Amino acid sequence: MTRLADLPIRTKFFGLMSLLLLVLLLVTGVFTYQRERSFILRFAVDNARSFARELIETRDYISSVVKDEPEHNYNLVPQVVATQVAKRVTQNSKFYVRQVSLRYRNPENRPDPYETAQLKEFARHTAGEVYGVVGSGDSRAFRYLLPMLATASCLECHGSYLTAPDFVKKRFPPGHFSYGYRVGEVIGAVSVSIPMKDLYAQLGANLQLDLLTRGMVFLIVIVVMGSLMSRQIIVPVKMLSEGIVRVTRTGDFDEKLPQASRDEIGSLIGAFNEMMEELSRKTLQSRESDERYRRFIELSGSAVVTFMKDGKIVIANQKAEALFGRSRQELLGESIFSFLKKGSYLAEKLVSSEGTKEHSSQQTVVSSGGKATEVDMAISASRTDGEPMFTAILTERGGSR
Ligand code: HEC
Repeated sequence: MTRLADLPIRTKFFGLMSLLLLVLLLVTGVFTYQRERSFILRFAVDNARSFARELIETRDYISSVVKDEPEHNYNLVPQVVATQVAKRVTQNSKFYVRQVSLRYRNPENRPDPYETAQLKEFARHTAGEVYGVVGSGDSRAFRYLLPMLATASCLECHGSYLTAPDFVKKRFPPGHFSYGYRVGEVIGAVSVSIPMKDLYAQLGANLQLDLLTRGMVFLIVIVVMGSLMSRQIIVPVKMLSEGIVRVTRTGDFDEKLPQASRDEIGSLIGAFNEMMEELSRKTLQSRESDERYRRFIELSGSAVVTFMKDGKIVIANQKAEALFGRSRQELLGESIFSFLKKGSYLAEKLVSSEGTKEHSSQQTVVSSGGKATEVDMAISASRTDGEPMFTAILTERGGSR
């Protein structure tokens, strides 16, 4: 199972940023939706209110100026004028305006259940406007009602039957419920409505457009940041790690990586290059010093052997070849103890005296040909890579010097 932390930086970055983007879009989406919804309700209320006020003013004005004109022209009845004005004003909108009354003359002005309830409420105690979202599903609508109060001029036609103009008397017989209003009484209401889906049509489109542009901007930011990060960090770091792996495998310290900049990543690559140079120099030095040592021990008149704790020979000079009766190639990897008569004793001694720098003893070397030679053996201990190493000088006793 891959742990989250082990995923490539690119994947983590894009994953995290996408998640962040989604959450941000959601949060801002919710906020925007709420803001736009309250905005659109405000818009609906403001529109409905101004329609209603206009109508009431129109009616009041007509009512106060007409004398007996409606007698000849029914189109000059305040209600009829207001209805025509309402029609024209709302022509290019989804708003629907009517004027209703519980005691209507024109059946077209009969209130629907919502209007009836509000009108009854108005009759009980005269209030200002009321509005709200009514209904459910597709028939949900924004509704607004503003009550109309009877003024003195209204009573000319809505007061007593006896004082009403003839054309009213003719149409509405005595006892008709549209008579008998008093000044200040609620005579009806302007009712404005608009289906919520028409209101939201605008909101929905806005919201989608809003989210879309926001998402696009975020996407661009992520892609730009991602490619920047990729170019500036991921690619150079990958190149560096591949370089290190290659060097470890091949041991070739001559490799140099291209340093594109002097920022943090650039300095890292610079440091890598410097380290490579240093390592290259150090290996060369150590190779040279190894070589010097080898040449030097060849000059020695005695056999010189370097071996590990277990006796394994790693370096031997020409004299040692002669003493042990083996070529250098054969000697490397052999145990020095196998050539010594008291080899096992010496091995134990070296292990127990580990850490003591010097040690000398008299030994008998038995060459591979079976020839025994008495030698003085001087051993010095050292450490390489934490492993003890020993260098022995074996000098033939009283032998040819
Ligand atoms: C000249 C006579 C006249 C005057 C003045 C008058 N009205 Fe009317 N009113 C009518 C007639 C006629 C109707 C029926 C119109 C129709 O056929 O649509 C009516 C209808 C109405 C209605 C619609 C409900 C219904 O009965 O069909 C309301 C509300 C209303 N009037 C309120 C008022 C108010 C408020 C005033 C005063 C500002 C007023 N009217 C002044 C004659 C009048």
